[in-house]
Amino acid sequence: MKTKIIGHRGGAAGYPENTLIAFRKAVELGADGVEFDVQLTKDGEVVVIHDEFIDRTMNGSGLVKNHTLKELKEMNVGEFFSSDFKEEKIPTLKEVLEIVKGLEIINIELKNYLSYPKLEEKVLKLVDQFKIRDKVIISSFNHYSLEKVKKLQPAAKTGALLMSKMINPSDYVFKRGFNSLHMHFLTFDQKIIEKSHFMGIETCAYTVNYPSAAADLLKNGIDMIITDDIEMVQKVREKN
Ligand code: G3P
Ligand code: CA
Repeated sequence: MKTKIIGHRGGAAGYPENTLIAFRKAVELGADGVEFDVQLTKDGEVVVIHDEFIDRTMNGSGLVKNHTLKELKEMNVGEFFSSDFKEEKIPTLKEVLEIVKGLEIINIELKNYLSYPKLEEKVLKLVDQFKIRDKVIISSFNHYSLEKVKKLQPAAKTGALLMSKMINPSDYVFKRGFNSLHMHFLTFDQKIIEKSHFMGIETCAYTVNYPSAAADLLKNGIDMIITDDIEMVQKVREKN
């Protein structure tokens, strides 16, 4: 099976992360999919942003959850990267799905270390409205949240994000009833990938920005590579 290339936060190498321009570019570049992070605003809207605080990427400060969508839309989310992108606004999940709905894989990461009431329900509802259930992977470091997703919609594809190396990660994912194993690229090896496949679990490595690391993962049969640099991994894949 051909390894799929997934643009991290859209494809953050050349564009500000998690912005509409980054997602448009990922589609244009022919990425197989995109990965991005979602959280809730004060008024309960699902927005696409990585940090819980807006300080790093927006011209404001404080928690995402303490601002309404209207307040956030008045700020920009591109200037931190370059003044060329100062018109970029924080996207809603709906706005991003409009752009990426045609891709093969849409990896929505629930960034819910904080408590976000009904985030799971809201994301599943939008995915259903777009009729893209089969291509969406909902991932999270919060595995209780993934269990909630499974309870709400048993057929939903869930990806367990792991921060560090653990013993028998594929057994863990299998036992908890998730569908894919998402680990830092340095913690994958051929054995883990093979065992996962034997157990019917897909494998996804993040965030792969070195050609040699991409080549190793491709050789070992990884299913998905999340990268900031879509074109770099495409070149490596062509050669392998
Ligand atoms: O989904 C993989 C990767 O995005 C997790 O790390 O911090 O970039 O969200 P982070
Ligand atoms: Ca992420």
